[in-house]
Amino acid sequence: MDIANTTQDQAWNGAEGQHWADHADQINAAVTGHLLEAAGVGPRDRLLDIGCGTGRSTRAAARLATEGEAVGLDLSAPMLDRATRYAKEDGLTNVRFTRGDAQVHPFPAGRFDVAISQFGVMFFADPVAAFANIRQALRPGGRLAFVCPQPAERCEWYQAPSEAFGATGRMPDEGMFALADPDLTAGILTAAGYQHVDIQPLTTSLFFGRDVSEAVAFFTGSGPARALLESGAVTEADVVAGLGTVLRRYADETGVRIPGRHWLVRAERGA
Ligand SMILES: C[S@@+](CC[C@H](N)C(=O)[O-])C[C@H]1O[C@@H](n2cnc3c(N)ncnc32)[C@H](O)[C@@H]1O
Repeated sequence: MDIANTTQDQAWNGAEGQHWADHADQINAAVTGHLLEAAGVGPRDRLLDIGCGTGRSTRAAARLATEGEAVGLDLSAPMLDRATRYAKEDGLTNVRFTRGDAQVHPFPAGRFDVAISQFGVMFFADPVAAFANIRQALRPGGRLAFVCPQPAERCEWYQAPSEAFGATGRMPDEGMFALADPDLTAGILTAAGYQHVDIQPLTTSLFFGRDVSEAVAFFTGSGPARALLESGAVTEADVVAGLGTVLRRYADETGVRIPGRHWLVRAERGA
């Protein structure tokens, strides 16, 4: 298997990959409908989902592409194990998952009508090469649609847990905000050969648990929090107490949801 993004590959296959696999399927659920609508997924579409994680958006796309197919690609084996299991549990027969690095994966040329991604395209070491590789997987006239975060200061789901870490400052962002500047993103897509780039704001809340203790456990076990704990700058008790205080603000009887401002990006492959 060709892997160019080796650091990401290690991160998403180690403890972080397992942690996300255990929690990820619900987090971005509010984004999926907006993404699929922007992608205009139809019954006959062959769809590629980049950085599909546990496959919530891939499964939702497969339900729309009843006579087509949905293929999820991700670096993370733990995420893909979950994705495969959930799709089987849902009885979906037109969905499959592949492990690979979107930047260099040997996609069949012109295979897909549409490529989507829900927070899965910000982590490329060479974004122009990655988006060009995805473009060649699209048929002429094929579409690209993805959702990525706006700058960290507009994402309360990032600021709130950072605040809980107090004087130690923000959580490390690990590439999460690499496409936060829409001009930069438009330039990357244009350099990769796309046309008709359109970038719109999208405000949605992300879901972090059915109650405060579940949300606290999620953030305490995430890579950024673990890195801070390992650095010795904070104690686990401080982190748990700080997170509890902050996350209670976002809790109601249906769970803990924290808003954020994102970009909904669309582009076309062209001829
Ligand atoms: C923030 S998660 C989002 C997962 C999923 N789309 C969701 O909405 O829950 C980012 C995902 O992108 C994947 N990823 C990061 N870099 C990648 C690459 N170069 N090729 C394929 N997948 C990648 C990670 O393994 C991870 O599953």
